[in-house]
Amino acid sequence: MQKIAIASDHGGFELKEDIKLFLKEIGYEPVDFGTENSNSVDYPDFGAKVAETVARSEIPKGILICGTGIGMSIVVNRFPGVRGALCNDVYSARMSREHNDSNVLILGGRVVGKGLAREMVKTWITTKFEGGRHQKRLDKIKELEAKIRKGEI
Ligand code: RB5
Repeated sequence: MQKIAIASDHGGFELKEDIKLFLKEIGYEPVDFGTENSNSVDYPDFGAKVAETVARSEIPKGILICGTGIGMSIVVNRFPGVRGALCNDVYSARMSREHNDSNVLILGGRVVGKGLAREMVKTWITTKFEGGRHQKRLDKIKELEAKIRKGEI
C-alpha cells in the first residue's frame, strides 16, 4: 500500500482525521505526523516533519492541513525538492500534479468542507505529472534552489 505522509495543526486536525479515513478507503496508507488533538500547536513544527520526510524521499507525497493552509504552504516550500500546492478547488489540485508535479497537497481546514477536500485528495493522488515543457520549468526551480544554497541569491 502506498504511504502518504500527513500532518496538521489544531486548525486542520478535524479535517486530517477525516482525510486519514478517506485515504484508507481508497487504498492508501496515511502515516500521521500529528497533531493528535485540537489543542493549540505551532504549524511550522508539523509542516517541517512532512516536508523533511518528502525532501528525503522517505515518503514520496504528503498532505498538510492548517486553518487556511497558508502557514503550512510557507513552511514546506522552503525545503529543497518540496513542491507544496495550497488548493481550494479540484481544478487546482489536478493542475498542481499535471503541471507542477506537486508532492505536498496543502488544505485549509477552516476553508474547505470535507466533501470538497476528499475530492481534491482523490484527484491529486491519482493525477500524473505531464512532464515535457513542465519538466523544464521544474529544472529551473532546481537551479534556483542551488543558487540560493550557494548564497548566490
Ligand atoms: C492557527 O490559528 C492558524 O493560524 C493556522 O492554523 C494557520 O491557518 C496558519 O496559517
